[in-house]
Amino acid sequence: MKIAVIGMGYVGLVSAVSWARAGHKVIGVESNEEKLSLLKAGKTPFFEPGLETELKLALESQALHFSKEFLTMELMSIESLVTNSLSNKSAILGAVDLFFLCVGTPILPNGLFDLTDLFEAVDSLVVPENSSLSIIIKSTVLPGTTAQVEARLKDGFEKLGKVFKGSVWFAPEFLSEGTAMSDTINPSRVIIGGNSEVFKESKLGQFILSVTPASTPIVITDWASAELGKLASNAMLASRISFINEIGQVADTVGADINLVAKIIGLDPRIGSKFLKAGVGFGGGCFPKDTTALKNFGAMHGASTDLLTAVISTNEKAKLGFSERVIKRFGEPHGKTLGILGMAYKEGTDDIRNSPSLKIIELFTQAGGKVVVYDPLIARDKLERLGVEAKASWEEVAQMVDLITILTADPQFVNLDWQKMRAIYSGTIIGDGRRLYSKKILTKLGLNLIT
Ligand code: UDX
Repeated sequence: MKIAVIGMGYVGLVSAVSWARAGHKVIGVESNEEKLSLLKAGKTPFFEPGLETELKLALESQALHFSKEFLTMELMSIESLVTNSLSNKSAILGAVDLFFLCVGTPILPNGLFDLTDLFEAVDSLVVPENSSLSIIIKSTVLPGTTAQVEARLKDGFEKLGKVFKGSVWFAPEFLSEGTAMSDTINPSRVIIGGNSEVFKESKLGQFILSVTPASTPIVITDWASAELGKLASNAMLASRISFINEIGQVADTVGADINLVAKIIGLDPRIGSKFLKAGVGFGGGCFPKDTTALKNFGAMHGASTDLLTAVISTNEKAKLGFSERVIKRFGEPHGKTLGILGMAYKEGTDDIRNSPSLKIIELFTQAGGKVVVYDPLIARDKLERLGVEAKASWEEVAQMVDLITILTADPQFVNLDWQKMRAIYSGTIIGDGRRLYSKKILTKLGLNLIT
C-alpha cells in the first residue's frame, strides 16, 4: 500500500522503516529540517538498535522517501511509480492509501497534551477534492481526541463545500526504546479504535492484517476505550515501578534484598515478574508525561486520581530521595566532582528526556560541585551541550571523580570490573541507582553502596 507517516519521532520513524521493509511504499513527513536532512542521508536522529541499518536498506530499495510536506518532489517521485499525473496536493493525497499521524503530543503547563502539531497535521489533509481519506492517529492522545479530529476534518471539508467521507482511526503504539523495531514487527497486541463493522474490509484492516503476525491479538474497539487503554497501559507499568520503589525503601530499612523480594512477588503468575525492578525512578518520553496527563484528565472530569497522584509523587521521591541519600552520605559537594555512569533515562537508548540523572546533576551542581559523565550510547558533544563534562569510558570518569553513581543498567555497568574500579577510584561511595550490585562484595572491597 501507499502510506504517509507524519512525524518522524520514535513511533513514526520506526513504523515507517518497518512498513517499507515489509514491502509497502512509504513517505515519511517531517517538518524539522535538521532531522529531515539526516533521514534523507540514511542517518537516524536518535539511537535505536537495528534502525539505521534498516533505514538505509529501505532508502536504497526506494520503498521509503522523506519529505517536508506533501507537495514536494520526494512524494512526486514515489508516487510517479504508479501515476504520472500528480501535479497538485489533492492528487498526491488521493494517491496515498493511509495517513498515519505520529506527531508528538508534549505536555502543556496545564498538565494536558498539546495538540498543536496533531491539529496542524490534520488541517494539512483538508483539500477540496479529497474527502475520502483514511486517517490513523498513532500519537498518544487523551480520550476524546480522535472524535475531535474527526469533527475538525468534517468542519474543514464543510468550509470547502465538501462532505468528509473518510474514516478516522486510533491505533496506539506500544514500542519501547531499545527494542522498538522488534516491538513494532512483533507487537504484544494491536489495538484499533474505530468502526469494528467496517474494519476488516477497510484499507487499514487489510494493511494491519498484512503486517501483523497471525498469532497477535487484535482488539477493535471504540475510540475512547482505545485511547484510554493506551494511557492506562503505561500508567499500570508506571504504578508497578513506583510500587516496587516504595517497597525498596522498606527493604532497605530492614536489610531485605529488594531484588529477591521482587522475585518472590513476580513468581505469582497472577502478578508476573516484569516491571518490578526497583531503582532510581522512571523517566523517558512516555511514563512521566502519560501518567501526568491521565491524572489531570481524570481530575478534570471529576474522577478519583489518588493512585495516579501517588505513582507520580512516589516517582519524584525515588529520583530526589536517591540523589539526596548519595549526596548526604558523601558530604559537601562544593569543589568536588561527581561521576555519573549512564546519563540516559534507561539503558539501550540515548534519550535523556526526564532522566533521573538530571535530578542528581541539579542537586550536586547547585551545591557547588562539578559533574563528569559517561554514557556508552550518547555522543560526548551531545552530553557537553547539556553543560556537563563527558568522557569516553567509565575508567576515565572513575579516575578523576570523588563520588560515583551508576544510573543505567547498561551491560558495561552491570558487569563492572570492581577490582579495576577499586584501583582507579579514590572515593569510597558508590551510588547504585539500579540496584545492580551486592553490598557484601562491595563492602569487602572497602566501598559503601548507597541505593
Ligand atoms: C514505555 C512503555 O514500556 C511502552 O510500551 C510505551 O509505548 C512507551 O513507554 P519506554 O519509555 O521506552 O517504553 O521504556 P520502558 O522500558 O518501559 O521504561 C520506562 C522507564 O521505567 C525507564 O526509566 C526504566 O528505567 C524504568 N523501569 C522500567 C524501572 O525503573 N523498572 C522496571 O522494572 C522497568
